[in-house]
Amino acid sequence: MGVIHVTDRQGQRHTLECVEGWRVMEIIRDWGLPIEGVCGGACECATCHVFIAKDWVEKLDPATDEEEDQLDTVITHPTSRLSCQIIWTPDLDGLELTLAPANG
Ligand code: FES
Repeated sequence: MGVIHVTDRQGQRHTLECVEGWRVMEIIRDWGLPIEGVCGGACECATCHVFIAKDWVEKLDPATDEEEDQLDTVITHPTSRLSCQIIWTPDLDGLELTLAPANG
């Protein structure tokens, strides 16, 4: 068991317990935070857009071309990722991220 830390759009930080093998988008949604995940993790909507804390960027597997293409459809930040493309493992215990604005 481990956790991720998610800052919501009001600036409030939430510590969420994780399940290995779940998509980070699913963990955030399961805890009731406002992330849409419209396509269910198929990399087709970008409504699971998050900003990864700088210290964590290098610890994640790089984005696939598919993810990069989908990120091109929204206003990104240097540490933007699609949270449905990040599968949580114990290596990501303590992962820190912020929800992107709902319209991007
Ligand atoms: S949930 Fe649709 S791209 Fe992540």
